[in-house]
Amino acid sequence: MEIRLADRPAADLEVDVLVLPEPEAYEPSVLMKSLDARLGGRLARARELKDLTGKHAETTFLYGDGAIPAARVLVVGIGKAADLTVERVRRAASVVARQLRRKEVKRAAVALPADTPPEYVRAIADGLTVGDFDGGLYKSDRKERAIESVALGLAGTAPPASWAEPLAQGLAIGAGVNTARALAMEPGGHLTPLGLAARARSVAAAAGLEIDVLERDRLEELKAGALLGVARGSDEPPCLIVLRYRSGNSSEGPLLAIIGKGVTFDSGGISIKPAGSMHEMKFDMAGGAAAIGAMQAIAALRPVRDVLGLVPATENLPSGRSMKPGDVLTAMNGKTIEVLNTDAEGRLILADALGYAQKLGATHLVDAATLTGACVTALGNHVSGLFGTPDDWVDRVRKAADRAGDRVWLMPLFPEYREQLKSDVADLANVGGRAGGACTAAAFIKEFVEDARPWAHLDIAGTAYTSSDRPYQSSGATGAATRLFVELALELAATP
Ligand code: BES
Ligand code: MN
Ligand code: ZN
Repeated sequence: MEIRLADRPAADLEVDVLVLPEPEAYEPSVLMKSLDARLGGRLARARELKDLTGKHAETTFLYGDGAIPAARVLVVGIGKAADLTVERVRRAASVVARQLRRKEVKRAAVALPADTPPEYVRAIADGLTVGDFDGGLYKSDRKERAIESVALGLAGTAPPASWAEPLAQGLAIGAGVNTARALAMEPGGHLTPLGLAARARSVAAAAGLEIDVLERDRLEELKAGALLGVARGSDEPPCLIVLRYRSGNSSEGPLLAIIGKGVTFDSGGISIKPAGSMHEMKFDMAGGAAAIGAMQAIAALRPVRDVLGLVPATENLPSGRSMKPGDVLTAMNGKTIEVLNTDAEGRLILADALGYAQKLGATHLVDAATLTGACVTALGNHVSGLFGTPDDWVDRVRKAADRAGDRVWLMPLFPEYREQLKSDVADLANVGGRAGGACTAAAFIKEFVEDARPWAHLDIAGTAYTSSDRPYQSSGATGAATRLFVELALELAATP
């Protein structure tokens, strides 16, 4: 889908559908009044009949009947003006794109109020892009590009040139989120660890990112025993995908590493999972997908600091060669881990990815992982768990998440959680019992971060995918953490 700025008033554009955002207010907006004059009062009539209320994400189709070039008008509610946020704007835009797809509309125009702020322009471009995503990767009637073009315009004139930049940003972010979603929806049989690396290579080539894929021999040289241990039971070889965005800025400054769990299929290994929803474990690389999608967007947005993106990729399968409960692995940083449950594999591979990120000189670390069912129990499906240290870094991540519209909730990392990980034979065990499972998982990862290095961890087990179709989002992968990663990279570059 092409999204561009209109070159004339929106109602004059030769399109199939004219989209009008309408707030939920007693008085119709100035924009609506001026357009309703063109439309002979049919908007006011629809309001009187309560076919049109302006409630957030409500959509109503009306007919142009020759009053304007567009055959149809699509009114989208944006809710109460006081409740409007970047996220609500993005969702409304996404609802619009999903409606346009459903009606097989090719060309649309959106008439916006003249005082639309740049962050809303960005959210609209982002929302339209993610609303046009089709998760039916293997459906034979899949349409890659359903909507051809959407023009953003005003009622009376062409929009200001200053909208061009937020428009381009929204497109880049939305495209990055869609990359993450498309990767996460790939079945484990189609997307193996090296397959994920191949996809990362094509993203890197198109975006202008550097890429280094460390295969088994280099992982052995680096003594990445935790990642290699998880991969041992699988016929598919593991790898560590390392993307680098080069800013061209050689002065001293922060180097952010974005790390995402890349388990392309998690059966649990010898501690095998029940069959019921095991298929969902194809999403167990959603954190890695978010890292790759974010790096794609970062390359387009060009912050003034370099950024690293790391994805430890492996399967977790049972076989005669699998790691067994009770086995001891040695991570890249030399710490020994007793594997009490082979299904707690995410934290193991993150341990080595964090080790390598620090070897590469990362000064700030952030990871996202579909890590624990316990986090889903604690927080549900609408917010990711946020852990980390020190507090000021975690606070920055939380604020970046708020701006990006990626919901997170601060979770604790008290020293007692570490005590639950005590092992008789090794430095630590990979599980800490039922109590506080998301917190003990985070406490485990923290052991692989060198002292005082800012690190934040996002448990996206509940947010990475949705089994229900939402008005603003098709069922499947959500791209959770992608926008937060991008926002954090931009912010760290702007204010180190
Ligand atoms: N990938 C799973 C976590 C998960 C569960 C993600 C449900 C999304 C939905 C992870 O590897 C895992 O199996 N975690 C275990 C840890 C336990 C053995 C300590 C879990 O949560 O049950
Ligand atoms: Mn697991
Ligand atoms: Zn897992």
